[in-house]
Amino acid sequence: MDPTSDRDGDRDARAPLLAQLAHVELLTPRLEESTWFFRDVLGLEETGRDGASVYLRAYEDFYHHTLQLTAAEHPGLGRVAWRAASSDALEAVARRLGAAGFGRGWHDGGPGHGPAYRFVTPEEHPMEVLWEVAYYEAPPEKRSLLRNRPQRRPLRGVPVRRLDHVNLLARSVREVREFLVGCLGFRLREQKIGQGGTEVGAWLSMSPLVHEVAVMRDATGAAGRFHHLAYWYGCPQHLIDAADVCADYGIRIEAGPGKHGTTQGMFMYVFEPGGNRVELFGDTGYLIFDPTWKTVVWDVANEADLERSSIWFGGRLPETFYTYGTPSRREPVTGPGSRTVR
Ligand SMILES: [Fe+2]
Repeated sequence: MDPTSDRDGDRDARAPLLAQLAHVELLTPRLEESTWFFRDVLGLEETGRDGASVYLRAYEDFYHHTLQLTAAEHPGLGRVAWRAASSDALEAVARRLGAAGFGRGWHDGGPGHGPAYRFVTPEEHPMEVLWEVAYYEAPPEKRSLLRNRPQRRPLRGVPVRRLDHVNLLARSVREVREFLVGCLGFRLREQKIGQGGTEVGAWLSMSPLVHEVAVMRDATGAAGRFHHLAYWYGCPQHLIDAADVCADYGIRIEAGPGKHGTTQGMFMYVFEPGGNRVELFGDTGYLIFDPTWKTVVWDVANEADLERSSIWFGGRLPETFYTYGTPSRREPVTGPGSRTVR
């Protein structure tokens, strides 16, 4: 595509390429325990099994699944899947990624979705984009009388409502952020600038959600690691209830409940039994409808901005929050706090 042109074939090149975060594949060395955590503690619904994978969704997720848990030797990110804005947009984004050298080719698809174009970020976070999806159809005993809900709220654990966002660690936040904006059409909503003008955090979305993806600097200097995925829990009481249940059942809480300045979300970070970090995010995050939104910039070289943006109630974020990440398929990891460096 000619980057100076407003046309990409018959398509307006300014039209959105992506619509939403579709699903995330997490790798886990403890598949059954990880499945227990998401199904019984967070109330997700198991919708299928396929070889080494279990597929799950929250009760207000409309698609076949938003989470794929895959058995693996180490925890980590299998893949982040985005839904394109249209079938034309899928073709356009695939062409753009291929031309830019980030494309890894087409895949036939699988449970819950049709053909997907696979690609990586500049730090090789594995991703794909797809258009065709299968919608979840509840069996009779799980159908809600509320017509706008794809299933009844489960009477199990403290059920989260929907998938919200992913957070990537990066050696160079700037490079990954420029890729997300330039190749995928994300808009930069908030940004943290540290000592010497270095970009240390970026929060991006293509919808009114304040972010569907965040990128944070990896304090270990590693490239391409995964920080967390987040489910939306609803109102703050649910977060307190979830914290209570995690304490009861031995789920390690890393941080929170608390509130971030960035995104204004109330949060709690926990480690699922396989070793991946999961955030329960919700309530107070804000929405953006302004088409000329100006990026909010936090000056985190300034101690007050650093504290206020990271956490403004709920204590402090621990060291592991900045150093523990789970790798992509190729990387070994030894446990929370490990310093895996490529
Ligand atoms: Fe998050």
